[in-house]
Formats: sequence, C-alpha cells, structure tokens
Amino acid sequence: MTYLIRPIKDQDIPELNQIDKEAFPTMWPATNFKREMENIMAHYMVLVDEDISRGASPKISPNIWKRLWDCIRRDSNAAGTLADNPKVIGYSAIWVMAGSAHLVSVAVRDAFRRKGFGELLLISSLKEAIKYKCFEMTLEVRVSNIVAQNLYLKYGFAIKGIRKKYYLDNHEDALIMTLDSIDSPDFPSKLDEYKNSHTRKWKTTPGMAELAS
Ligand SMILES: CC(C)(COP(=O)(O)OP(=O)(O)OC[C@H]1O[C@@H](n2cnc3c(N)ncnc32)[C@H](O)[C@@H]1OP(=O)(O)O)[C@@H](O)C(=O)NCCC(=O)NCCS
Repeated sequence: MTYLIRPIKDQDIPELNQIDKEAFPTMWPATNFKREMENIMAHYMVLVDEDISRGASPKISPNIWKRLWDCIRRDSNAAGTLADNPKVIGYSAIWVMAGSAHLVSVAVRDAFRRKGFGELLLISSLKEAIKYKCFEMTLEVRVSNIVAQNLYLKYGFAIKGIRKKYYLDNHEDALIMTLDSIDSPDFPSKLDEYKNSHTRKWKTTPGMAELAS
C-alpha cells in the first residue's frame, strides 16, 4: 500500500466524520469539518491510502461466499463499503494563532493504530507549524489518555499545566502539553531525525517516505 499526507478536501468529510465518531465517541459538538475548511487559522492534514484513492481494486477474497456477500453489501450499503476499504486512515489539525500552533486533533482509525501513522501525522503537523513560523506547539489531552500522552512525550512535549474539568462530557481534567522552540535553527534537523528513525522502524514504502517531507 502507498500512503500520502495531504491537506483536507471536501470529499474526505464523510470518512473524517466516521474517524471522529470512532476516536472521540463522546465529543460534543462534533467537528464541523466544512466550517473548519473555511477557517483561515485551521490547517487539516489527512493521511490517505493512495491505492484506493487512485481507484485500485479492493482486496478480493478467495472465498466465493465472502465475495458474494461483499457484492451485496457494496450495492446496498455505501457506508459499509467506506468502512471496509477506507481511503482516509487518519487526520491531524492545528490552529495557528499569534505564532502558536494549537494541535486541535490527531486521530487514526482504530484498525490502523500502532503502525506509526499517528507519528507521521504529528510530524506533518509540526512541519506545517514550522512553515507558518510558529515558535511552539501546544495542546490539551485528557489525563486518562496515556496513549496520546506517550506520543507527545516521545516528540519532546512537556506537561505545562492542567485545565480543571476541561471536558464537557465527563468533566475530566486536561493536561496542557507544549513543545517549545520549534522555531529554533536546529529543530528542522531534529524533526528529520525523528522522520528517519520512523522510516527505519516501519520500513516505509517509497510513497510513504514522501510523507511529511
Ligand atoms: C493517539 C493516536 C493518534 C496514536 O496513533 P497511532 O497511529 O496508534 O500511534 P503510533 O503507532 O504512531 O505510535 C506512536 C507512539 O504513540 C504511543 N502509543 C501509541 N499507541 C500506544 C499504546 N497502545 N500504548 C502506549 N503507547 C502508545 C507510543 O509512544 C508510540 O511510540 P512507540 O511505537 O515508539 O511505542 C491514536 O491512538 C488515536 O487515534 N487515538 C484516539 C484519538 C485520540 O485520543 N487523539 C489524541 C487526542 S489529544
């Protein structure tokens, strides 16, 4: 498979809604991707499966009954087809305000987690923040979300504070995590090191190696 990270397009929205529902089931109000596309502060990046985007045929099962069932389902349920052959695997988003990049979201489809895609999305958001000459990246994360905290800690984010009862659904506290000095002259080469070690670890395909460059 070949993957690509690119800015959001209108056609991604149905799949992004699915990903949001899966990643943030209690989030209310849900992300209004259409409105975010018109927000000049917002920069949304999506990670797509290029083979499916180019219209390559989905995997065909050797089992005739499974093939028949897939056909019936494809005809009768477009949403089912989307879920079975996802084109959009994850997304990340920053808001750029007064030189600070606020990471508003990063999410990967459940079935594609722990394969390095979250890292790729974070790297690409950091590159976007550098492009807009930000001096820091900051974010809020649930105190219970150890998985996401580990991802941010791996990239050098530090815990800077706490927002009490920040989340509306269960009044959970948020940690404020910040990565300082992303405008320093040595940060781009540090980011290249992260990317190179990611490429070594995941033995990315040529298409994937183009990511976040
Ligand atoms: C957070 C999230 C984006 C990570 O995506 P991912 O593609 O699974 O992450 P990666 O495979 O790139 O892992 C990168 C790092 O994250 C951390 N991590 C990822 N999954 C983890 C797990 N199950 N347990 C502990 N740490 C984990 C590790 O530090 C990992 O680095 P390592 O592979 O060297 O251990 C994903 O879990 C997700 O979509 N979660 C739901 C949405 C969410 O909570 N977003 C964050 C909102 S603040």
